[in-house]
Amino acid sequence: MSFEHLLFTKEDGIAVITLNRPKALNALNKALLLELSSALEQVENDSSVHALILTGAGDKAFVAGADISEMRVMTPHEARAFARLGQAVMTKIERLAQPTIAAVNGYALGGGCELAMACDIRLASVNAKFGQPEVNLGVIAGFGGTQRLQRLVGAGIAKELLMTGDMISAERAAAIGLVNHVYEAAELLPKAKELAKKIAQKAPVAIKLSKQSVNEGVNMDIDRALSHEAELFALCFATEDQKEGMSAFLEKRSARFEGK
Ligand code: CAA
Repeated sequence: MSFEHLLFTKEDGIAVITLNRPKALNALNKALLLELSSALEQVENDSSVHALILTGAGDKAFVAGADISEMRVMTPHEARAFARLGQAVMTKIERLAQPTIAAVNGYALGGGCELAMACDIRLASVNAKFGQPEVNLGVIAGFGGTQRLQRLVGAGIAKELLMTGDMISAERAAAIGLVNHVYEAAELLPKAKELAKKIAQKAPVAIKLSKQSVNEGVNMDIDRALSHEAELFALCFATEDQKEGMSAFLEKRSARFEGK
């Protein structure tokens, strides 16, 4: 499948989706969101893809937000539909069977920060900048920002960022837990691929269930979440990977996981 606003590559079981509207700093318009949704379905249905990296084209931006030219003339009805589309795409990323890594190579503002937050892990280049500047435009975050930001960094810091619209550095983003690691720009993609490959070597069903347990547990009370974890733990014991992983450990050899 070919795309107008995305680049899609696959190598050694790692897919890379590059958001590609550099003249608009990779801003998310409706066409790009629809293409991203199709690309995610392609990844989900491809069992040879073990991890997905999302990044932005050019050296300036990951994604500078939802497309302001497109939003400027929206009616409330159209804006609701646009928010629901963006939210659906972010949720699709969050629930993708494979692990996802955002390689944030520049501005991650508004919808860009929301896109990064929908990924499992965020790596940033030293020049990356994060923020939810919607209040400067007379609107609020609409692709999940008011919800995912507070779950990642806590309500107090989330409200400060949402109410001031301030941009923060990659270093500050790492300090508040918004990004996992910060690298020199040239190192960012190689480090993201290295991490993706490391995760891809582990037991695939266990990776998928770890993600599911964290994602689903966060919205449950602790007793339900622990019982859910125990169910998913039990499910692992119905896999070949569990037998192989534990046998390999006891036989002092490397495990050969097949994701079954
Ligand atoms: N939408 C549409 N176009 C955008 C854009 C956006 N979010 N961000 C940048 N662009 C365009 C600019 O209009 C400009 O286009 P032209 O060359 O045709 O004039 C081009 O990208 C380059 O941008 P700048 O000239 O502004 O570049 P800069 O280096 O001076 O500034 C920036 C970079 C600080 C990121 C600045 O572009 C900026 O503030 N962008 C908007 C950020 C923003 O407010 N994002 C939130 C959007 S709202 C949202 O996302 C809602 C939601 O939650 C769903």
